[in-house]
Amino acid sequence: MPTHTTSYKLPDLPYDYDALEPVISAEIMQLHHQKHHQAYINNLNQVLEKYHEAEAKNDMPKAVSLQPSIRFNGGGHINHSLFWENLCPPKNALGKPSGQVLEAIEKDFGSFTDFQKRFNAETAAIQGSGWGWLAYNKPRQQLDIVCLSNQDPVSTIPGMTPLLGVDVWEHAYYLQYKNARPKYLEAIWQVIDWKRVEERLANSL
Ligand SMILES: [Fe+2]
Repeated sequence: MPTHTTSYKLPDLPYDYDALEPVISAEIMQLHHQKHHQAYINNLNQVLEKYHEAEAKNDMPKAVSLQPSIRFNGGGHINHSLFWENLCPPKNALGKPSGQVLEAIEKDFGSFTDFQKRFNAETAAIQGSGWGWLAYNKPRQQLDIVCLSNQDPVSTIPGMTPLLGVDVWEHAYYLQYKNARPKYLEAIWQVIDWKRVEERLANSL
C-alpha cells in the first residue's frame, strides 16, 4: 500500500512539438518532454514513496539519504515545467520584453542587448550540465542572472524567484546544435515568451 497519494504528472506542452522550429527541432522537443522530463517525474514519484516509507518508520537517516535525489528529480520537474512555459512559437515571440521587465533589465544591466550578452556568456560557461536563469532578487529588488548546476532550482536561493530559465544540458540542444552551446543560446531568444516573463515578475514583486 502506498503511504501517500502524491503523484506528479507530466504537464502538457502549450504548443506542438514542431512549433518551435527552426529554433528547436521537433525531435529535441519530443525527447526532452516525453523522455527526459518524464524520467525526472518517474524518479521523483519513486523517491517520494521511499521517503514517506522512511518517515513512517521514523527512519531519519534513510529519509535524509533520499534528499539529494528529491532535490535533483524535484528540481528537474520544477525547472522543465517552467522552461516549457518560457517558450513559444517564433511567430508569437515578441523578440524583446516590454513594460516592467524591460525597465528592470535596463536599470540592472544597462540595455536589453547588454543583458543578452551577459546572460549568454555566463550561461555558455556553465561547466557540465545546468541552467541559466533570469531571476528576481526580492531582498535587493533587482534582477539577477543566476547560473545553477544540474537541476538545482532557483527556489533553493532565499528570496529569489525564477522569471526565465534556459536549459543548457546537452539533451536540450545537442541533436541540432551539436557541441555549439553558444549558437543554441543565440537562437533561443527567437522563442522566448516575454509575456510570461512579465507575468512572473508582476507576481513576484
Ligand atoms: Fe532538460
